[in-house]
Amino acid sequence: MSQPLRLVILYNALIMKRIISILATALCVLTASAQIRIATPGTELILKADVGAEPQIQYFGERLSDTDVANLQAAGVPNHNAYPAYGLWCASEASLGVTHSDGNMSTVLRVESVTQTDEPTAKVTRIKMKDTVYPFYVTLCYRAYQDVDMIETWTEIENLEKKPVVLTRFDSGYLPLRAGDVWISHLHGTWAAEGLLVQEPLDRGMRVIKNKDGARNSHTDHSEVMFSLDGKPQENTGRVIGAALCYSGNYEIRVDTKDTDYHEFYAGINPDNSAYNLAAKEIFKTPELALTFSDEGLSGASRNFHRWGRKYKLAHGDKERKILLNSWEGVYFDINEPGMDQMMADIASMGGELFVMDDGWFGVKYPRLTDNCALGDWEVDRNKLPNGIGWLVEQAHKHGIKFGIWIEPEMTNTTSELYEKHPEWVIKAPEREVVKGRGGTQLVLDLGNPEVQDFVFGIVDDLLSENPEIDYIKWDANMPISNHGSQYLSKDKQSHLYIEYHRGFAAVCDRIRAAYPDVTIQACASGGGRANWGVLPWFDEFWVSDNTDALQRIYMQWGTSYFFPAIAMASHISATPNHTVFRTTSIKYRIDVAMSGRLGMEIQPKNMTEEEKALCRKAISEYKEIRPVVQFGDIYRLVSPYDSHNMASMMYVSPEKDGAVFYWWKTETFYDDHLPRVKMAGLDPSKTYKVRELNRIDNVPLPYEGLSFTGKFLMENGLEIPLKHKVDYHKQDDWSSRVLYLVAE
Ligand code: DGJ
Repeated sequence: MSQPLRLVILYNALIMKRIISILATALCVLTASAQIRIATPGTELILKADVGAEPQIQYFGERLSDTDVANLQAAGVPNHNAYPAYGLWCASEASLGVTHSDGNMSTVLRVESVTQTDEPTAKVTRIKMKDTVYPFYVTLCYRAYQDVDMIETWTEIENLEKKPVVLTRFDSGYLPLRAGDVWISHLHGTWAAEGLLVQEPLDRGMRVIKNKDGARNSHTDHSEVMFSLDGKPQENTGRVIGAALCYSGNYEIRVDTKDTDYHEFYAGINPDNSAYNLAAKEIFKTPELALTFSDEGLSGASRNFHRWGRKYKLAHGDKERKILLNSWEGVYFDINEPGMDQMMADIASMGGELFVMDDGWFGVKYPRLTDNCALGDWEVDRNKLPNGIGWLVEQAHKHGIKFGIWIEPEMTNTTSELYEKHPEWVIKAPEREVVKGRGGTQLVLDLGNPEVQDFVFGIVDDLLSENPEIDYIKWDANMPISNHGSQYLSKDKQSHLYIEYHRGFAAVCDRIRAAYPDVTIQACASGGGRANWGVLPWFDEFWVSDNTDALQRIYMQWGTSYFFPAIAMASHISATPNHTVFRTTSIKYRIDVAMSGRLGMEIQPKNMTEEEKALCRKAISEYKEIRPVVQFGDIYRLVSPYDSHNMASMMYVSPEKDGAVFYWWKTETFYDDHLPRVKMAGLDPSKTYKVRELNRIDNVPLPYEGLSFTGKFLMENGLEIPLKHKVDYHKQDDWSSRVLYLVAE
């Protein structure tokens, strides 16, 4: 009997055995087919996985007919190894690097089995591979959702050698992309300028996007990308592949374009300074890489990310978010009882639903008067708040709103009781002076240490068990890992520091969610440092940026919306001149921008005029009407602020297409400017929509106020938006924006 035939028989026998064993649960089916179809409702990934051979990726895109799948090979496929390992053909980029227990640095993986199992709303395909020499296994996993167009891929790396092996690279996934005017869209930034969009054609050479912050990972570059396959990126047309690495720690994304017809895309944990000693019998699971495809342009790929995210990757993705006031930009560290009470009364009177007390409420031996002390000493400062948190919660209750509180649990300061008691809990390089962060004293706690994990869990546990009515936690993280050294890990595991930190973070978050499933938690990290799908399963939202300037927020929120839905993007109305860029924008403009995300306020209400308060009250009331469309609707970006048209426009459409909210913001003002007339998108062409302007400040309504238009007309012609607001002369300024609510009749 030939070797391949024997393998097929063996394989089939294995299949029968497995089928019998799993019929009991009726969840799992072993497939004998060498061509593996991993399909969502509209997309599919096709692999060739012959037992004894290397697995190969053949296709990723729109779902294909059986005929096309059968003839795929003949049409031309990449024939690229689905998870290339380092060691033979060394000049090629690899997804996996292993030094085996005997020092051999080469790995050769061949398919051993393929299984497909059903989860309630997904099918999971597992391609198990074994090294041809060593008892070393890698299982390539794919989860294809059956109700959203998203495929998650990850690997499970198992060492059955007698001694540890060293993993020097451990990607989550790999995808070849056919070259030919492919563009990459990704997010870049820094503190106060997060999520800015970068779009560039992929050329020859290696494009690397990576993060080394250690604790947070989205201030600078993001671990999500989109590839426009049909030339210059378009929002609503063209084929797009989107990818998001769901990991809270350091990551690395590479796009390698060599002498072939393919761009090769790799994504995973950043292996820099992170070699991992995999003990015998240990399994290393890589984070998920989420892949999507859309032929409806970049906005189409965003809709896929948003639907999947809200349903599977965001805490409480199906629940409306409250409208809140956060104390930070209003009072900074100047926390006191009358002040907090006044802010609560003010937000309640404007129709808000939640008040969040930010930094500055704690510290007994070292009161937190500024940012240089007390992190870790999570005891209320009775000089500022004599009646403690409980009183504030009660007051909030009296005002008819909920109460939330700020913590930064992963950190300490050298000036703190915690550090005095537990200097061994901080991350610190041996034999070195420690590098300190914010306030000249901040340090990161070693979350890889189980005692630290208990401590961090205890912070939340104490707060919530003592004050069960606390509704919201703002979880901040204001320092990168700036010192390489764990005082907990053994000498031979120092390179596990970053990975163990994020395992510890996940373990703590799991415990918190198990104990407090309903509390709302915001991921903040000096602004937008934790906008990542590896963080959000435990968090309800993230703070987009410490920069609340409405104009710059248009650019940041535009980019961030590529991968994250409005429900997760905290977007607040703040004071002018803005505290970061010192720009003065109109209150109407600030409202109209904040209303395109999860609306909140970040301002001292007592410094607002009655007119401003009235406008905010109206906006809050109107936001409550549009909240379901904004927070659960489908995004259609229409005119990009990055395209230099001096304006930007986007909209949300309800899934049933019976309601939509259209936003229009002028981004520059020039006399005799001729802005484009914006065509809407995503509406039902056959439905008729009645137009109503929200947050109106003009003395006269827009000519089409209260009139109806078909979706077809709105999408083919659009509505003229006047360049300026018709307001009294002394109220005129250079800001102009509109929010239109369209309701199907
Ligand atoms: C950084 C955050 O981004 C701010 O919103 C605020 O919470 C401060 N930290 C508090 O120190």
